[in-house]
Amino acid sequence: EPEIIRNKEQMRNWTRSMRAQGKTIGLVPTMGYLHQGHLSLISEARKHAQLIVVSIYVNPAQFAANEDLSTYPSDFQGDIEKLQSTPNVVDVVFNPYDLYDRGEEKERSGEEKKKKKKKKKREKDGGIVSCLEDERGGGFGHETWIRVEGLEKGMCGKSRPVFFRGVATVVAKLFNIIEPDVAVFGKKDYQQWRIIQQMVRDLDFAVKVIGSEIIRDEDGLAMSSRNVHLSPKEREQALSISRSLIEAKSYANKGKKLCSELRKSVIDSIETAGGKIDYVEIVDQESLEEVEEITNGGVVMCVAAWFGKVRLIDNMEIDIS
Ligand code: PAJ
Repeated sequence: EPEIIRNKEQMRNWTRSMRAQGKTIGLVPTMGYLHQGHLSLISEARKHAQLIVVSIYVNPAQFAANEDLSTYPSDFQGDIEKLQSTPNVVDVVFNPYDLYDRGEEKERSGEEKKKKKKKKKREKDGGIVSCLEDERGGGFGHETWIRVEGLEKGMCGKSRPVFFRGVATVVAKLFNIIEPDVAVFGKKDYQQWRIIQQMVRDLDFAVKVIGSEIIRDEDGLAMSSRNVHLSPKEREQALSISRSLIEAKSYANKGKKLCSELRKSVIDSIETAGGKIDYVEIVDQESLEEVEEITNGGVVMCVAAWFGKVRLIDNMEIDIS
């Protein structure tokens, strides 16, 4: 049975006592509604640390006001059951209610409301406000943000301007509270994984960041908590993502090296299936800068596309020597 810890102070105390006993700690940050993808990160973390903490926290700061915070799926009880039945049992589930110090009592006080108004005016990002300062009360005094300026420019950062700011900041908070030796991220969110690595390097966090392979359903669809919102028809359409990526990869391996052509084949397949493209990019695995031609080294083809109201992302690495 994992121990469930709901506040920062208790989490810190646990970490400190375990460290005093010389234990190493692995962290797997999640937003819950766990699936095999998340569980595979736990298995990976087990290889590198003696104790495992899984955080379950739907971070309002990484959702823009017009995004799906309010419909983001959650099932805490189900998550706990999944964690009990894995072969890789977790030691602690960190499910904080006070991560941004948004205590209920504070929210109701008049002073906090005033602050909230002021904050609302100030905290804008190109006119886009995150749910932390918007609906969920911006009066809690949080005003420090981590931006990984280069890597967050393209792809998901372009269509979701406050997303990576929210992700990097919440992950930094988790690192500071839990002080893990290792933290595992899925390559499913390739740009996110690279941004966290860069943040750790740039700000000297004493944590080793590990990227873990994408877990797919049998039919190829990359697992995601959001898949639950796909209708059967949309789910079928969404298979075009992984299929078109596999196809493009085989074209590349057969010698088709022009990225414009490879991108076009992916875009056409997804659109034909009924998806709406957000982006399809072929980028360098390290810099995440767009590549025109696959010559040598590693690139990754990244896709974001809408199926109905659901935005899905996926990617595939291509390594050509
Ligand atoms: P969430 O979407 O819950 O994902 C948690 C972790 O699981 C991420 O590292 C993600 O890349 C990984 N993951 C999701 N689906 C996967 C799959 N099919 N195969 C492998 N790994 C997969 O990503 C977040 O939450 C948040 O942004 C978070 C990092 C927790 C910050 O709030």
